[in-house]
Amino acid sequence: MLVSDNMHNVTLITGDGIGPEVADAARQCIEATGVVIDWDVQTAGAKVIKTEGDPLPPRVIESIRQTGTALKAPITTPIGKGFRSVNVRLRQSLELFANVRPARSIKGIGITQDTDIIIVRENTEGLYAGIEFDAGEVDTKRLTELVKDTRSVSLASDCAVTLRPISKSASKRICDFAFEWAKTHKRSKVTCVTKSNIMKFTDGIFLSQFSQASKENPEVGADHRLVDAVCMQLVQSSKEFDVMVMPNLYGDILSDLVAGLVGGLGVVPGGNIGNDHAVFEAVHGSAPDIAGKNIANPTALILSSAMMLDHLKEHKAASTLRCAIESVLCEGVVLTPDLGGSAKTNEFTEQVINTME
Ligand code: NAI
Ligand code: MG
Repeated sequence: MLVSDNMHNVTLITGDGIGPEVADAARQCIEATGVVIDWDVQTAGAKVIKTEGDPLPPRVIESIRQTGTALKAPITTPIGKGFRSVNVRLRQSLELFANVRPARSIKGIGITQDTDIIIVRENTEGLYAGIEFDAGEVDTKRLTELVKDTRSVSLASDCAVTLRPISKSASKRICDFAFEWAKTHKRSKVTCVTKSNIMKFTDGIFLSQFSQASKENPEVGADHRLVDAVCMQLVQSSKEFDVMVMPNLYGDILSDLVAGLVGGLGVVPGGNIGNDHAVFEAVHGSAPDIAGKNIANPTALILSSAMMLDHLKEHKAASTLRCAIESVLCEGVVLTPDLGGSAKTNEFTEQVINTME
């Protein structure tokens, strides 16, 4: 086994729905690599609202501030007023400005065999910033009047409005990050995705910062696609794409699309990365429809754990973990139901651990 000398401090957020099941699987796999981690286990989500009045109590953020790194299982966003998404709040409070979601084909799994895409999603602003004005609110009326006075556009009196702030600074930061990621991981091209022909100011800013970053990184190829067109191109010919960078909501949507190409939400990992902290989590949510049944596919969180090990500079362990997952999936014998098999979460996890050993 690959034991490194360092012990790492990591916050483990167990989440809800299938969260505890996949978190347990990921933790076992990490421990089987021999990397020593002192886990600070933090609960968050629906259960915690009852006892602490907040799905994301300050202690969770405080823990990540201390450890610098977290592995996070999915958390249910409560429906109804008064709760903003825990995930959005976490990303904003810790300035986790980049969301990195790799989607790579594994033989026999998914509907493409040659996809190898890294989605880099701006994680702090855009339509996801959470600035909303509900229909009927006094402030919505004031905003409607401002739009009428300054843009001569009459909004319907019963409309709600969501703002979409996109700044030069955040766009520059994420585009620089995408090129840096491409260079570090020896990738050859970065594609920018916007709808700048329609949203000339907001997406215009994003695209101009991308062009600037591209000029500063001439050794990396660069191109720009419109978000609607790129959805079709991804389905028809995903191998054309390498690293892709885009504003928040486009990244949310496109990362699920590419997940569909390579086997679904059960297999796609992710990392939320800032200058000082990083939180690794699967692309999928808490899957309440299959929670507690021991049938969730833990691959996505295990691969997120491999990303975390790379972040902790435990590259050998990360690669061992990835190879083990790939080998179990390629073999196609022990698969969870989402991939057409009948294995339980714990059986799949044991198979991964046995393969590593
Ligand atoms: P979801 O990703 O939880 O589920 C969508 C579908 O994919 C379901 O049929 C589910 O069974 C399946 N699925 C997801 N992960 C799977 C896995 N590991 N193995 C096998 N099947 C899997 O999305 P949904 O239903 O829209 O959201 C449920 C809750 O999760 C919501 O409250 C949402 O806000 C939250 N959510 C949380 C995220 C996070 O914590 N990062 C991300 C996305 C959603
Ligand atoms: Mg999503």
